[in-house]
Amino acid sequence: MAIVKANAYGHGAVETAQALARQGIRRFAVASLDEGIALRQAGLSASIVVLGAIFEEQVSDLIAHRLTPVVSDERILPALAKAAHSHPTPYPVHIKVETGMGRLGFSPEELLTLLDNPLLHSPLQVEGMMTHLADADGKDSTVTERQLGEFRAALEQITQRGRTLPLVHAANSAAIVRFPDAHFSLVRPGIMLYGYHTLPATVPAPDLKPVLSLRTTIAQLRTIPQGGTVSYNGTFVATRPTRIAVLPIGYADGYSRQLSHRGSVLIQGHRTPIVGLVCMDMTMVDVTDIAQLQVGETVTLIGQQGQESIWADEVAGWIGTIPYEVLCGIGSRVPRLYEPA
Ligand SMILES: Cc1ncc(COP(=O)(O)O)c(C=O)c1O
Repeated sequence: MAIVKANAYGHGAVETAQALARQGIRRFAVASLDEGIALRQAGLSASIVVLGAIFEEQVSDLIAHRLTPVVSDERILPALAKAAHSHPTPYPVHIKVETGMGRLGFSPEELLTLLDNPLLHSPLQVEGMMTHLADADGKDSTVTERQLGEFRAALEQITQRGRTLPLVHAANSAAIVRFPDAHFSLVRPGIMLYGYHTLPATVPAPDLKPVLSLRTTIAQLRTIPQGGTVSYNGTFVATRPTRIAVLPIGYADGYSRQLSHRGSVLIQGHRTPIVGLVCMDMTMVDVTDIAQLQVGETVTLIGQQGQESIWADEVAGWIGTIPYEVLCGIGSRVPRLYEPA
């Protein structure tokens, strides 16, 4: 079940889902109703699970677009059943079991009462049972093993009551690599589809290649004298005559303001430091040490140039966050261009 929520972690949900569907992926998951509708409207016919909370006023749209809800609260069942009533076959839902994420889901005890609810036999039907792991990429495996143990015990209670288990899923990217016994019938990779691991370095992991590069071009070159300043509040003061390249990308595009004075970009294969505050629409870099430079030259903010590369996990490290946030923060103004692999 490919996780394509948050615009496929910034990569473009429609194009990503279509590319994965061409490779044979038959199940997708998003976070919200709107994300699911966007994929349906783009023509994706595969199963689409909505992982996030569903509200009563959303259920008719949800069912009209054949989206599969994850039920985490019994109170939604009557509305779902009502909206699914005219559906020709029992309408599939997935059930979330809360085993330690402290977020959505039924406790294992609540689960048994829930499954006696007649609405879950008709017009609804339990297609999937899931849990979400809180610490699959953590230092040690204790929390995950406890969560998996609880989940397995809940599943066993269900089978002991003579019920067959539907699709069962628990593993995010980290668990896919680290806990093969968490694979059950489906896995839910997100970040690894996009080429990143978040596992501790001690865990052996397959080599992945980041999918996305973020590039811009130099919009203007100017030389400022010693003592000249760059950007709002003059936080960069030139200590020598300094050549500045102005890049037409800023925090409104998801290039975090926290990168001010911290980040670097690649120009002609050189790491080139950001100077001054990152603005809403522009960022300035010091290119004094690069001899031959033209307006229009390609600048790589995430990606590879020559022998050098800067990937989203490095950018995340500069600003104290995770590659997920860097990737899914890339704004809607940034055109996405797709190349065949
Ligand atoms: C329920 C659920 N499953 C799977 C994933 C994918 O996680 P990852 O990107 O770490 O593989 C997410 C993402 O947050 C999620 O919320």
